[in-house]
Amino acid sequence: EMGLPTSLCNMVSSLQSGDNNYESIDQVEEDLHLMKTQPEKFLFNSPNSNLQIFPHMLYGRALEASKLLEIYKCSKDVNSKTNNMVLISGYAGTGKSSLVRSVQKQLVEGGAKFATGKFDAMQQVRPLSAVVSAMDDYCELLSQDTDRIHQVRKDVTNALGSEGLVLAKLLPSLHKVTNICEGTTSVQVSGREVMQRLMLLFRLLLRATCNPCCPCVLFLDDLQWADEVSLELMHALVTDSEIRGLVIIGCYREVSSCHPLTRQLNGIQNSDNVDVTQIFLDNLDADAVNNMLSDILLTLPRRTRKLSEAVLHKTGGNALFVVQFLCSLHQEGLIRFSLASREWEWDIGRIKQKDIAENVIDLMRAKISRLAPNVRNALQLAASFGAQCQTDVLHIVDKATDSTDSTADALDVAVSEGLMAKEKSAYKFSHDQIQRAAYLLVPDSERGAFHLRTGRLLLKWASTEEIERNLFLLVDQIQRGYSLITERSEMINFARLCLMAGMKASIMSAFLPASVYLKAGIGLLRSDDWNFHRDLCLELYNSCAETEFILGDFEAMRDHIEEVLARGNTPDENMRSHYLLVQHATALGSVHQGIEIAMTVLTTLGESVPTSVTLTEIQQELEVTRQMLRPYTKDSILKLEPMHDSNKIAAMRFLNMIVPKLFYL
Ligand SMILES: Nc1ncnc2c1ncn2[C@@H]1O[C@H](COP(=O)(O)OP(=O)(O)OP(=O)(O)O)[C@@H](O)[C@H]1O
Ligand SMILES: [Mg+2]
Repeated sequence: EMGLPTSLCNMVSSLQSGDNNYESIDQVEEDLHLMKTQPEKFLFNSPNSNLQIFPHMLYGRALEASKLLEIYKCSKDVNSKTNNMVLISGYAGTGKSSLVRSVQKQLVEGGAKFATGKFDAMQQVRPLSAVVSAMDDYCELLSQDTDRIHQVRKDVTNALGSEGLVLAKLLPSLHKVTNICEGTTSVQVSGREVMQRLMLLFRLLLRATCNPCCPCVLFLDDLQWADEVSLELMHALVTDSEIRGLVIIGCYREVSSCHPLTRQLNGIQNSDNVDVTQIFLDNLDADAVNNMLSDILLTLPRRTRKLSEAVLHKTGGNALFVVQFLCSLHQEGLIRFSLASREWEWDIGRIKQKDIAENVIDLMRAKISRLAPNVRNALQLAASFGAQCQTDVLHIVDKATDSTDSTADALDVAVSEGLMAKEKSAYKFSHDQIQRAAYLLVPDSERGAFHLRTGRLLLKWASTEEIERNLFLLVDQIQRGYSLITERSEMINFARLCLMAGMKASIMSAFLPASVYLKAGIGLLRSDDWNFHRDLCLELYNSCAETEFILGDFEAMRDHIEEVLARGNTPDENMRSHYLLVQHATALGSVHQGIEIAMTVLTTLGESVPTSVTLTEIQQELEVTRQMLRPYTKDSILKLEPMHDSNKIAAMRFLNMIVPKLFYL
């Protein structure tokens, strides 16, 4: 009433009433000191009845944050002979991602190119997702560095050559930092070589652009959900002896010893080219929780001590639980802003009695169910895409409805509720537990239909270019509900999309996802499609068998090959399957069997290869060959027209595969 700050009034009344808030005069001095040094917080706060939780404030992590900054400093040392990897592990919600984000600004100010990629439980099937998005961000950052861009463009163009085109298919922003001429072609490779080439290209890109003066910090979040190719790529980059100034920060929830992540991390730890620092994030301690509460409730730490003890007791100090528990206390009125005293009050007795939900999902589910139906629907839709959802995808969805309220508008409400965060071109769930809670709103039995509906809608309203750009996302939706499709033309249409996605994933060496897409495509075929959509059937079965061969799933491979051979009418149609059979037989040591199949194929191709020859015959043939080669030099041979006759090309492929094996017989 007299215009005196509430905190000061409370202190005086506390001292007058002797309510045990203060045990000594030192404590009074301590609080007066806080009021003097941080008056904006402890003296002149202007609270309002909304609980203000600051997602960017971090408590009790000073040590870990300075460790990260220190490691970054080391990576800037020009004499350093190693890259750096920081592994941050801990239970769900202990604040791993928040810790990294809290130092991001300082790293960027310190000259880091900081790029982020997050693996997603929902998108495990989506190949290389996090690494690709981080590396694409990295290229974007390079392109924005006006001081260096000229040199960077020169270096990247030199390093990647015409193969830059292959990488630019994955990283659209690469076009901004390299000159790739239209019409350039790259060398055709297949199988494992695709992956090796990709790895090499990523390495060349970093070798050319990353150095201790301008370090690259790749933050790869939620490694526990990474696919194997991504892990291998991460391993290859950080242990590359010719890349310097690379820092990879990886966060993950603890995994079992047989998880692929464990194997890759062991490999990285054993490398001499990388310094590995392990940080285990435990729950917040009593002081951290208390400081957090004092900040949120805008009052002296001494006043919140009892409340924070209760909160710590209920939540174990898990950061995510603490935040959500406070929100639920506020929503239920157990923490409320008193207009009379103009400060926050709480009912410690009832809070101590309160049960905390078994898990955060239940807590979040209750929160989401209180939202308006359109916001709930938008959240469900966004959750069906995974941890984040691009705004351009939402625009496609909105084309389908007459309503003037867009999905993005509804998600903005979720943003104001703290459930999501809005970034440049995407809405991201604040936490995957929230995404999960939103996803679980769709009953289990209806999920397939839900995904299929979304897939259909996207396909109907997206332009060709949008389909191309969002191919994996689209096929993911369809693939989750494909068994519910009954219309023949739709089945064929979707089978074609699955094939496209399978091919695209194979190009990225992501063979596991590729096989998932191709199998979904095969699942949509019916027997008579071999009559009406023969090319599609052959392409799906052959590609699937080839992928399974690379993955080592030989039984599935044989099933698919058998189907092709049973249906195939011409040698041409059976060619890929036969080639795979020879490859398979020779790889498993059955060289005789492989050669036998190859010889049969060669005969059908019109190449008669004798099964026994004399030394004289060999000498004669060698002489004939020598005569044929006489007019040519090595250079002139390279300049000859490529072969066009498809039978000859096929014969050469088979010969190329079996001839080296003959030496071992
Ligand atoms: N030190 C901290 N102080 C205050 N709040 C924190 C702290 N750490 C995390 N939080 C809050 O806790 C929540 C969960 O944090 P975060 O998402 O970083 O956890 P995580 O360990 O990455 O979880 P997950 O394993 O699920 O990825 C966030 O809302 C964040 O704002
Ligand atoms: Mg996290």
